[in-house]
Amino acid sequence: MPHDKDRTHWHEPAANKKAGFGEFKKQPTPYDAYMEQEGIPVFRDIGISNVRNLPLVPWARRGGRGHFIQLYGTEGKWGCYVIEVPPAGALNVEKHMYEEIFLVIEGRGTTEVWQEGDTRKHVFEWQAGSLFSIPMNAMYRIVNATSSGALLLAGNTAPNVINMINNFDAVFNNPFIFHDRFSSADDFYKARDEIEPDPVRGLAMRRTNLIPDAANCELPLDNRRSPGYRRVEPFMTNNCFYFWIGQHENGRYSKAHAHTSAAILICLKGKGYTYTWPERLGVNPWRDGFGDQVRRLDYEPGGMVTAAPGGARWYHQHFSVSEEPFRLTAWFGPHNPGRDPGPPGEKHTDYTAIDVNEGGTAIPYWMEDPFVRQEYEAKLRQNGVANRMDPAWYLPPGVK
Ligand SMILES: [Fe+2]
Repeated sequence: MPHDKDRTHWHEPAANKKAGFGEFKKQPTPYDAYMEQEGIPVFRDIGISNVRNLPLVPWARRGGRGHFIQLYGTEGKWGCYVIEVPPAGALNVEKHMYEEIFLVIEGRGTTEVWQEGDTRKHVFEWQAGSLFSIPMNAMYRIVNATSSGALLLAGNTAPNVINMINNFDAVFNNPFIFHDRFSSADDFYKARDEIEPDPVRGLAMRRTNLIPDAANCELPLDNRRSPGYRRVEPFMTNNCFYFWIGQHENGRYSKAHAHTSAAILICLKGKGYTYTWPERLGVNPWRDGFGDQVRRLDYEPGGMVTAAPGGARWYHQHFSVSEEPFRLTAWFGPHNPGRDPGPPGEKHTDYTAIDVNEGGTAIPYWMEDPFVRQEYEAKLRQNGVANRMDPAWYLPPGVK
């Protein structure tokens, strides 16, 4: 180890040496400093079976109790926390120069949204399972209508903005009004059910700033992750924050597929588990002796898991083990498919929906590690849930 003085005085490296310390610690970002300054804890792991289990600590600036969440692989990509709105109370009014969406974990209440100087406010109601978005830099106040605490999960682009601007006043006390993200029209927070193709990949999209019940709303057929898989991506308040709601049928599981980090899967309904492992371990990690490096999380409504805990591409695979379908919402921050690297107009392929033997990153059931199917079948028997995986899906293409 170099002496302290070697860290404060520049020395050119000797002729055959390389400059720098060689090894060094990841530095806290401005967003890490912000979380520290807010005075509530930060939960860091691959996931948690239920965010209701996180201890809530008074968060003075917000007027509630909370806990930051930064699952592995999402650092700097987007921000997350749980916050409890006090019984028969409200959070403090705030505005901020970042996007924010909320999922109601439990409770019932209202949210007021307006622009500085407005006399009229949007007011809408929410309950467990509601999802809504606060437009960038709009004023808002979250009110609890019940005599017990209401718990909300927030996802935002705070790390992205704070890490770039690094000035809290510019983020939390900025007079700019985004007329392109906010409207005073009466129907601004009216839930819209109409579905249209998203402009990038042609998948089902809903333009709506509020979803009253994300756990039970209609989802159109998608079929990309498992047979019968349903999915919609809500597009809210002109956000860059990208997310979708998807559902695996009961008695079925998704194919594994690989990509880099950003996505966090949050359970809305049913129960299940997720496996995630680095792509370099291959498509059969248990058979090849790497089973100890596969990470697993079991979760239920209110639980969440990171799809790719490390920097490189990780496979992840989701298993529905309850009588009910397994419904997830996946949050990505501003890392939406239209923002992948490459010049405008370059041909991009939905490679996570294409099997590895055809050039994609999805592991078809017939190529997967035999342990996956054995364990899943045993788990369903244990839970008394019918297995709805078709044995034909496990046969290689030439055999079908
Ligand atoms: Fe994924």
